[in-house]
Amino acid sequence: MKEDRPSATALRVAMRRAAHQLLDDPKVFDDPVALRVIGKENASALQADPRQFEATPLSPYMRAFIAARSRYAEDELALGVRRGARQYVILGAGLDTFAYRNPYSEEVLRVFEVDYPATQTWKRARLKETGIAPPGNLTFAPVDFETQTLEGGLRSAGYDPVKCTFFSWLGVTEYLTTKVVMATLRFIASAPLGSGVVFDYMISPSLLTPAQQSRLDGLSRRVASAGEPLQAYFDPKLLATDLRAMGFGYVEDKGPEEINAVYFKNRKDGLRVGSLSHIINARV
Ligand SMILES: C[S@@+](CC[C@H](N)C(=O)[O-])C[C@H]1O[C@@H](n2cnc3c(N)ncnc32)[C@H](O)[C@@H]1O
Repeated sequence: MKEDRPSATALRVAMRRAAHQLLDDPKVFDDPVALRVIGKENASALQADPRQFEATPLSPYMRAFIAARSRYAEDELALGVRRGARQYVILGAGLDTFAYRNPYSEEVLRVFEVDYPATQTWKRARLKETGIAPPGNLTFAPVDFETQTLEGGLRSAGYDPVKCTFFSWLGVTEYLTTKVVMATLRFIASAPLGSGVVFDYMISPSLLTPAQQSRLDGLSRRVASAGEPLQAYFDPKLLATDLRAMGFGYVEDKGPEEINAVYFKNRKDGLRVGSLSHIINARV
């Protein structure tokens, strides 16, 4: 992250989620706040030209993955709440809108949005501008994962470590160092039984085909030029082993085939995620 600047990728991802609302039928991720949260100007520009982010043939794959990972996280959150989760921690929240359309009452679910301080300040100003009021059961926790501990940031925000908690971490691990990703996962693994996390990650380039490597290079160049270079890559097998060793009793890695089978089956428009897509669902 560039010192004290809000994340540029947070807006890009939110724009694609908003584009999904306009372009795709049926929607994989139905988000009635997605257009509002990007601000009036961006929303009007997107409504005038919903394909403004469709610059390359890979763009629909990116849009599909961004929609699918949010849907998957919220599907798993719903199961987590049934298992007893009473806190939802959104790590690297960006312009995530769950808190502003949260179907659970204050007694059932407290929500924490954790983000890089400059991104969070920018989001809060944006919410004010767009007239989206933060609800009473949402707490903002500004944390720079690279220089502060998540535990400290959450505790100051009123997080209760004895409560069963669901975490989501979407589109973030790739921008951090491996050391920070592993430390954060160890903290999540120390949460009470029944707690869990959904997160996506980048596969190590050495495990990719030349065509996949060239797609990854393209993405890597784009995000680096936005000041957010890719840093952490993982081998799926080693990552699953590490997660189990940390104390996650259940670890599921959904790759492109599984994601497409669950969320993109029988579509007439051919929308689907690409071969680099991986999401982990791990439960304590
Ligand atoms: C691609 S955006 C994803 C945002 C959101 N999760 C979503 O799916 O819309 C990456 C997010 O990671 C956050 N981030 C990146 N580096 C961070 C750091 N060192 N500490 C805290 N947050 C960080 C950014 O502020 C941004 O919100």
